[in-house]
Amino acid sequence: TTIYIPCDSAAVACGADEVLRAIEVEALVRKIEIKFIRNGSRGMLWLEPMIEVVTPEGRIAYGPVAPEDVASLFEADFLNGGRTHKLCIGRPEEVPYLKHQERLTFARCGITDPTDIEDYIAHDGYRGLKAAAHMSGEAIVTAVTESGLRGRGGAGFPTGIKWKTVLGLEAQQKYIVCNADEGDSGTFADRMIMEGDPFLLIEGMTIAGLAVGATKGFVYIRSEYPVAYAQMEKAIVAANRKGYLGPDVAGSGKAFDLELRLGAGAYICGEETSLLESLEGKRGMVRAKPPLPAIKGLFGQPTVINNVLSFVAVPTILDKGPAFYKDFGMGRSRGTMPLQLAGNVKHGGLIEKAFGITLRQVIEDFGGGTASGKPIRAVQVGGPLGAYFPTSLLDTPLDYEAMAAAKGMLGHGGIVVFDDSVDMALQARFAMEFCAIESCGKCTPCRIGSTRGVEVIDRIRNDENRQKNMELLADLCDTMLDGSLCALGGLTPFPVQSAVRHFPEDFNRPAGHRAAA
Ligand code: NAI
Ligand code: SF4
Repeated sequence: TTIYIPCDSAAVACGADEVLRAIEVEALVRKIEIKFIRNGSRGMLWLEPMIEVVTPEGRIAYGPVAPEDVASLFEADFLNGGRTHKLCIGRPEEVPYLKHQERLTFARCGITDPTDIEDYIAHDGYRGLKAAAHMSGEAIVTAVTESGLRGRGGAGFPTGIKWKTVLGLEAQQKYIVCNADEGDSGTFADRMIMEGDPFLLIEGMTIAGLAVGATKGFVYIRSEYPVAYAQMEKAIVAANRKGYLGPDVAGSGKAFDLELRLGAGAYICGEETSLLESLEGKRGMVRAKPPLPAIKGLFGQPTVINNVLSFVAVPTILDKGPAFYKDFGMGRSRGTMPLQLAGNVKHGGLIEKAFGITLRQVIEDFGGGTASGKPIRAVQVGGPLGAYFPTSLLDTPLDYEAMAAAKGMLGHGGIVVFDDSVDMALQARFAMEFCAIESCGKCTPCRIGSTRGVEVIDRIRNDENRQKNMELLADLCDTMLDGSLCALGGLTPFPVQSAVRHFPEDFNRPAGHRAAA
């Protein structure tokens, strides 16, 4: 019998390793031989640890399993896919949460053995690279441009145009850099891919290398992701052995090498220029742009720097063609977006859908509403620097332009739900405090402004000269928005202003009331 138990950090945090050990012990007692495969997570995080047993009718899933459930699972004949156990979910792909997704990027995650290259290839892996290996750099870049792919790290800049800039430059050495410093609160898609389908990222970066003529790539992984690092490391070794990395990539006659680097826990190192500084061994300080990294990036050389989610969208585009990919989505947002649903929500997890799905559909249809059962009050989209949406804006489609029109941003696709117990003035304070802690200190509006912002919000919350301090806060937000060198200081006003705009009552409570609360 073969059992899949995720190695994904979310599953491990919920006890996947202990469940595996409990099954091992029980199997030993019963003299049954079991093969375990540590897969990625399917992304239904409320069901983790979710284990899957291979049966003639396909895989049958059980979750969330605790070590104390193991004996009863054996009693219920789970090794033959017994369906009587209360934790039996049936076939995972039939669960509506998964069934109603459009998984292009996450098509394999949770299904394959993440570090087995043969399994990757058997599930359509490396088809994109094989196609790219026989194309010119120009043709690859054209395919990416035609697909409409835009940077999934948050800014939504057209990937093909970025690559074209690097392709068009003459240089001794060009680089491909992957931003895997996923620092946004409530986001985990980069991690899930690196832990659950690392070859996909390697494939996407290799295609980028062939496209622009770069022979060297780096993946900058945050130090909080040790499992992702280990999985990527194993996958790189396997890809080298199999000729998908190295001096002659997939018979293309072109070379591409990949190395990993570990971050050291600074949010600002997710900003592309400080990431490059950090990669060069310096302190993670933001560089002024221009020059853009595409022109003068790592070690001063032309560099394609993209987020994990941008690179992993590329193999599908090369395999199935740009028209196939472009067919998903709405307006200028083409393809699919891996959304990450978290916070006070019943069914948190990874939801990959074509752009255009509304926030309400994500939270209600997939998420099942709040975990507390209380009404939703606010939803933050796009990480700690994203705007808060009130329930009146839940019908906003998730699309770069529609989100911007609602004064928000899609960012890296993180969606965090709050119920009616949230204090939005406190959330605004948190944004300023976060900025103060994470600021690299290079420019004044961010370095000083964020600290002053905390103080001003504290005065408002303490009912000191409220009117004047609200004006001061608005002024401060404008200064940070216009005067900051990078997105950290420049976006911090988004959550603050949206909290003031949509939830003014939270900034207007008598101090006594607040103290009591
Ligand atoms: P940006 O708009 O300055 O640049 C976007 C990308 O396009 C950059 O890589 C830039 O170098 C490139 N670019 C711009 N013009 C170009 C040109 N003409 N040719 C070639 N390349 C060009 O945005 P930035 O500051 O890089 O990112 C801000 C975004 O980051 C925010 O919108 C936010 O959503 C996101 N973010 C994501 C986080 C995460 O954990 N994924 C954390 C914090 C912020
Ligand atoms: Fe550094 Fe903040 Fe200025 Fe960005 S906005 S350069 S993080 S001080």
